[in-house]
Amino acid sequence: MTNLFLDTLAGKTGPRPPFWFMRQAGRFLPEYREFRAQADGFLDLCYTPERAARVTLQPIERFRPDAAILFSDILVIPHALGQNVSFVEGHGPKLEPIQTAADLARLDPGRTHDHLAPVFETVRLVRAELPDDVALIGFAGSPWTVATYMIEGGSTRDFNTVKSWAITHRNAFATMLDLLVESTTAYLLAQVAAGAQALQLFDTWASAVPAAEFESWVVSPTARIVAGVKAKAPEIPIIGFARGIGPRLPDYVCNTGIDAVGLDSAISPAEAATSLQPLCPVQGNLDPAYLLAGGAEMERAAHEVLEALSGGPFIFNLAHGINKETPPAHVERLAEIIRNWGTT
Ligand code: CP3
Repeated sequence: MTNLFLDTLAGKTGPRPPFWFMRQAGRFLPEYREFRAQADGFLDLCYTPERAARVTLQPIERFRPDAAILFSDILVIPHALGQNVSFVEGHGPKLEPIQTAADLARLDPGRTHDHLAPVFETVRLVRAELPDDVALIGFAGSPWTVATYMIEGGSTRDFNTVKSWAITHRNAFATMLDLLVESTTAYLLAQVAAGAQALQLFDTWASAVPAAEFESWVVSPTARIVAGVKAKAPEIPIIGFARGIGPRLPDYVCNTGIDAVGLDSAISPAEAATSLQPLCPVQGNLDPAYLLAGGAEMERAAHEVLEALSGGPFIFNLAHGINKETPPAHVERLAEIIRNWGTT
């Protein structure tokens, strides 16, 4: 059976673009909120394979996208390394921040595989239940983005703490990125061994990186992860999603070795068709605000994306995760628009 998503990542252009949505499993779905209420916190949900598998499959049953994304989080890596991580309802993630080289030295890559075993079990359970024409995406955060949470101790608006730390402790920060490259590579390979068929690296906060540090904080760690995964699993495509990097996208694509690039909505679909699609398959980039709004504006914006990018290898997605207030009916309508694309 053909899998539109994997075919597209291999560079093919099919009858309609495949689609999936970032945060397709999550709080906008009532069935997710029900599971979440039963779990003993968000991380408990991530580490309970039967529940995490059900949550991964919920949007597949509702919307029939061409890919499922593993239900987990990018912050399981710092947690697995031994950092204190918790999710406080309504406040996002809280971590005991890394402040000194000694804090860093306490992190232990030797414990990550066992700690993350439930996540690999989730991958196995999901793959066993998914139809053949729906692919399973594994993922991780990119080292820079994960490091922002590890050093800031949670979400931040200005990134001052992590940026000044990285600049004043250059050696320690390089060691931290090395540690994240190593543990993330092993984590992604274990997801592949358990059944993940494609991988996505989320560099959500790449936009905060000064141009002068872009190579060493974003490009090089990403390139090393890609090379490490490809050394053992050359057949597995890797999507890189570095948000907010605008003019540096071609550099990011050409110098990291990623197979496809995720786009935010700062680049217009028409610009992406000329500047990026000739380089590699592209994924994106309907702003989630249109999906939240729904109606004629959503339809118009979705058609604009489809028209601009469907002529080449293209995976329809959003420019960032689904907003938690989004009515599921809007997502159903969007799925229908994409599924019918090219048939009328
Ligand atoms: O459906 C999916 O997309 C799969 C699961 C997934 C989650 N997080 C579940 C989640 C994925 C791929 C992520 C990635 C992730 N996590 C990123 C990168 C992508 C992005 O959104 O930019 C980042 C930066 C994180 C870190 C993170 N996790 C934050 C900042 C938060 C709190 C924000 C909030 O909206 O509360 C989370 C929590 C989180 N991860 C939730 C979900 C469904 C909500 C938690 C809950 O149910 O209480």
